[in-house]
Amino acid sequence: MKNTQNSRSPITIILFGITGDLARRKLIPALWNLFISGNLPEIFSIVGFVRKKWSDKDLKNYAADILSQKNTEASPQDKEKFVGNFFCVSGSFDQEESYKALSDKLLEIDKNIGAQSEKLFHLSVPPEIYETIFDQMRKAGLSGAPVGGKGWTRVLVEKPFGSDRYTAEKLNQKIGAIFKEDQVFRIDHYMGKESVQNILAFRFSNSLLEHLWNNQFIEKVNIRLWENLGMEGRGAFYDNIGALRDVGQNHILQMLAFVAMEDPGIFEAEAMRRSRAKVLSELHLIGKKEIEKFVKRGQYEGYLEESSVRPNSKTETYFRAEAYIENKRWKGVPFYLESGKGLGKSAVEIEVVFRKKDSFLCPPDAGHISQNTIVFRIQPDEGIVISFWTKHPGFEMKLDRKTLSFSREKSEKVPGAYERVIFDYIAGDQTLFASAEEVAASWKFITPIIENWDGLPLLKYERGWIPKK
Ligand code: BG6
Repeated sequence: MKNTQNSRSPITIILFGITGDLARRKLIPALWNLFISGNLPEIFSIVGFVRKKWSDKDLKNYAADILSQKNTEASPQDKEKFVGNFFCVSGSFDQEESYKALSDKLLEIDKNIGAQSEKLFHLSVPPEIYETIFDQMRKAGLSGAPVGGKGWTRVLVEKPFGSDRYTAEKLNQKIGAIFKEDQVFRIDHYMGKESVQNILAFRFSNSLLEHLWNNQFIEKVNIRLWENLGMEGRGAFYDNIGALRDVGQNHILQMLAFVAMEDPGIFEAEAMRRSRAKVLSELHLIGKKEIEKFVKRGQYEGYLEESSVRPNSKTETYFRAEAYIENKRWKGVPFYLESGKGLGKSAVEIEVVFRKKDSFLCPPDAGHISQNTIVFRIQPDEGIVISFWTKHPGFEMKLDRKTLSFSREKSEKVPGAYERVIFDYIAGDQTLFASAEEVAASWKFITPIIENWDGLPLLKYERGWIPKK
């Protein structure tokens, strides 16, 4: 694993929502992993902005408690050092005084470390609060160069980025008025997954594939994000957004972009983001007339009894959409986008199905025989599986389906998605973050579906159901 950050300039991460679920489960453990592997700068501080009346000591105890639940062989000294870098500001998201207190705290930290640290504002709060925080940051002079006039300030926003194309556009405008695009990091942690980045490595560094990667050879692409779990206490949040907004607008469309984008020519932020945005903007929009033909939605039985879910909720916990990309490469190839909670299996994968080849060995009525597939297994057991046909031993000319596969060794140290995301935003590398154009293009595709949801029946499915492949 990389270890190039250690000597970098000091940083201060200001975490809004530090007591929330995401920070507890993913962000703080990811920061710890980066620290322990030597991938955080030598001097770093983590400031939690909390609504509770907490002191620095309370926040340090909170961080220590998170670490105590982690199975780690690190020494108590390392843990103490890490936890010692947490500081707290108690306040309200909408009160100027709170941002004054934050600003004072940042100055105090810089004074103590004897340097001007670079400031990273990470928003892990409900998106309705984003605008308030941005406005207050601007008023408090926290949105430009760090207090004192040197270094840089970055702002990181978690998904969902808006709730439809209009709110996303408004949010982009707001951000654009306060920050420059190179200060803004829109997080989609799926791009931080090694196995998602591996799609690019596989596509663009193997010459045997690229000439087959089009509608002449590919029949269809299935993108599945199946989840076993239900609400896990997130009912109030989920009931307002549903599966399509929760994982469709972002994770699934980003996976589609990685599979379908044109070669950006260079692994560099601007080219990569432009290429992803382009293919997303070429998605055929599914309007009212087509929705019934192309989209299905469902809800698992028992969803309405989940805590904080509205008793008559029509929120979908499952969707399947047949999407088309209107460009030369992909014209006519369906991309089936599917995700659900409460399913019989947790699996994220992309299956590329090649067209059937008719030959004297495979007569036209031989079913799927002689179709090849490539499956990118994102999780669990990340890897790539290619299926192909060989001769069955014996006197007859019969075919057997075989596979060639690559699996990531369990022992291989792979950075977690959030480790990667945090590592990159500290380094200022936006390659694996969504641009304003990508976000706009994905919402442009999703919004007409959401606007016409009511026209679609809500299919009920049992928990544990496994959709047909
Ligand atoms: C999150 C969604 O963005 O992604 C969750 O809000 C979902 O509902 C999760 O469970 C899936 O991510 P992962 O990394 O667990 O596959």
